[in-house]
Order: sequence, then structure tokens, then C-alpha cells
Amino acid sequence: MQKLFIKGKKEISGNIFISGSKNATLPILAASLLANEVKLSNVPFVKDIFTMIELLKFIGIIVKIKKDKKIIELINKKNIKTLAPYKLVKTMRAGVLVLGPLLTKYKKAKVSLPGGCAIGTRPVDLHLFALKKLGAKIKIKDGYIIAEAAKGLKGTKIKFPTISVGATENALLAAFGAKGTTVLSNCAIEPEILDLILFLKKLGSKIKISGRKITVVGKSVIPKKINHKIIFDRIEAGTYLVGGSLLSKKIIIKQIDPRVLKCEIQILKKMGVKITISKNSISISRTKKLKKINLTTKPFPGFPTDLQAQFMVLMTQANGVSQIKENIFENRFMHVPELKRMGAKIEIRNKTAFIQGPTNLNGAEVMATDLRASVSLVLAGLIADNRTIVNRIYHLDRGYEYLEKKLKKCKAEIKRV
Ligand code: UD1
Repeated sequence: MQKLFIKGKKEISGNIFISGSKNATLPILAASLLANEVKLSNVPFVKDIFTMIELLKFIGIIVKIKKDKKIIELINKKNIKTLAPYKLVKTMRAGVLVLGPLLTKYKKAKVSLPGGCAIGTRPVDLHLFALKKLGAKIKIKDGYIIAEAAKGLKGTKIKFPTISVGATENALLAAFGAKGTTVLSNCAIEPEILDLILFLKKLGSKIKISGRKITVVGKSVIPKKINHKIIFDRIEAGTYLVGGSLLSKKIIIKQIDPRVLKCEIQILKKMGVKITISKNSISISRTKKLKKINLTTKPFPGFPTDLQAQFMVLMTQANGVSQIKENIFENRFMHVPELKRMGAKIEIRNKTAFIQGPTNLNGAEVMATDLRASVSLVLAGLIADNRTIVNRIYHLDRGYEYLEKKLKKCKAEIKRV
């Protein structure tokens, strides 16, 4: 099994080019089931994207990959299967996003239930709630969601009881092919969802957004071919912003839109980090005296749960006791015991972690548990004394494109063995 070896305390500097967003690409790949021909650019070639491609190929889509150009071309064939098997959904929950498009286009779908994952139970009840409102008949049998809408889906009003990224996406995808107008309220409005909406608009749908309300007018005539450029990965950018604040002489984070990172920039500024913002880049340097801060994870435009573990590492270097309350997932502090093994002083009470700083971290052998927890251990390794070994890095490969390459280019000492 591959491991990362990191030699800490090395100052980093240089340019980091941010990849396309994994979490935008996944629903857009699912949305390609609604299209005829699609060309996607700025695609990040990480493990989760390949898993989704495998699923689309199984369903019957022709997929052409041009990795060096960051392009995927997808062509919809006539004979497709309306099935997403367990083996392709169990490793990546986003596989459940094919449910909405298959059901709305082919009037039936059988999709494996994704099951739990390391960070929490992660049910799909809200996805099914929306599809039922649109007229689907759904039953669960042998671990599969079996959905049918013999006469097609019909537009309606749907108010989500809680905000969910995936359920909003599945509902949008289903509403695209529904008869009439669908009004979704209490929606997630993450930038990745706005990218999906832009894609659906290119496919001909009329979609309006007002606050957390999204109105979708169903569409049946689809253009022959569309092109779409995936937005930048704001979580990858946020991760390197933390890295830059911790140990860079000067790092320039490029190929981004700083307006999307407003919340993260505000937090870093409050902590005292030196930041210079340009139109498509941010430059950032290490700050010796970081101030403590209290954060709570929230849906966008709030502070993202996907950056919680990384910011916790930054807090180990701030003066005083910082706090992070995790409000989205129930089990997302699994990096804490590993960080404590490196010398971090962190205590968890209910949903809140209390982080005392500044603490000198010591290199250790640690275990990655999920995607974002893994990268927080890499950040910790970069600022720790001596050597850190991160095990189970397949989690990192699910979502970070060229992590070592990008860090090495900035003179970090990191290698995969
Ligand atoms: C997406 C992101 C993930 C991010 C998360 C929250 C992708 C591929 N993944 O995941 O990186 O951490 O948003 O920003 O884009 N919930 C239910 N019932 C449901 C669906 C969700 O109770 O049917 C709960 C979840 O358990 C969780 C909360 O709602 O507590 C938010 O989850 P959700 O926004 O749906 O996350 P994902 O779409 O799975």
C-alpha cells in the first residue's frame, strides 16, 4: 500500500495552479446522461471521476478521455441500461446522482443504495423525497432504489426540510426532464450547484435562482452538442491557502475566482494572515502570530465542512484556544486522534473541537481516514519536526489532483513510496 513520506519544517514558495472541481464534475457527468454529446474541459482526473466514468460506461455512454488536455467527451448511445450496480456506487456516493437523470429520461431506474461512509451515515432520504414529489414511485429492494415514473415526472413545488447538496442536484437533474415547472426551495447553493445549473441551461433548460429558491422549467429538445468548462476546485484552493499561511515565503494560488472564496479569505484575514487578492489569484505568506478564531461549518456561503480538518491544523498554530463546531456531518473529527499523536492539543466536546495553540507538532506515522482528513495530516506533516508518514493515501487520490507534484514544485519535501 502506498504511503507519503514528508520531511517537515521546509519553507515553501512558488505558484500552485488549482484544478477543476471534483464536486462540480461529478453531478455534471451524471447530467451528461440528459445530453446528446458533451465536451467537458478543466476536468480533474482524480479517482472519484474515474469511478463515475466507469459507471457511465456501464450504463452505456461512450466516454473519450484526453487526460493531458483535461478533457472528457461523452456521447449518448440509444441503448442504455437504467442500472447503477452496487460495485460502482459503494466506493463513491455521488453515483446515486444518476438516479434523477435516468428516471426523468427513461422513466425508470435501479440504483444501488450508497450505504454509510467514514464521516457519517449519509442517508439519501432527501433525494428520494424530492423524486417522489415529482411523481416517482420508489421502493427499496435488496439494497437497491427501484424508481419508476411510467407517465414521466411532473413539475411541482418541493421544499427541502434540510439543505443537502446531493439532494438539490438530484432534484435539479430530475426536474430538467419533468413536464412543466418545478420550484425547489431551501436548496443548497454551493458554487458546484451553480456550475451544474449553467450546464443544464446550456442543455436548454430555463432555470432561475433567487436566494435558496430554484425554479426549473422542464426541457425535451436537447442541443446536439455542448461544451462546458468546469469551475475551479474551491476546496483544493482553500487547502493550499492554509498550507501557504502555515509555511510559505510566498505562494500564489492561481486559476481561481477569489469571489468564491470570500468566507475563507475573511477567516484568514481575521487570523492575521497576509493575503493579496488579484482577479484570478491570491498570494499568501506565513504569519508568525496567528490569532485564534471560532468557526462553525455551514452550507455555502458559510464555512465548508470540507475545509474543517485543514483549518484545524492552522488553529494548532494560533495563539489561544480556537473552536470548530461541525454542524454538517456527525463523525468528522477522525483526524483529531492522529493530530494529537503528532502533539496537537485538541479536545472534543459534543460537536465542537477546542484547539489550543500554538503547539509544536512532531512527525509521526499517521493514518488517513477520509479525503479531507488525509490532507490535513499532510499539512500537519509539512509543519512538523522530523518525518511524517501518512498511510492509506488512496483517500487523497480520490480528490486531490497531483498533490505531491504541486507541493514539490513549491520545494516541499514529500514523496510517495
Ligand atoms: C456534498 C459533497 C461533500 C460535502 C457535502 C457538504 C459532493 C460529491 N460531495 O456531499 O464533499 O462534504 O456536500 O458540503 O459534492 N443528508 C440527509 N439526507 C439526505 C442527504 C443528506 O440527511 O438524503 C444529510 C447528510 O447526512 C449531511 C447533510 O445532510 O448531514 C449534508 O449532506 P449533503 O449536503 O447531502 O452532502 P453530499 O451531497 O453527500
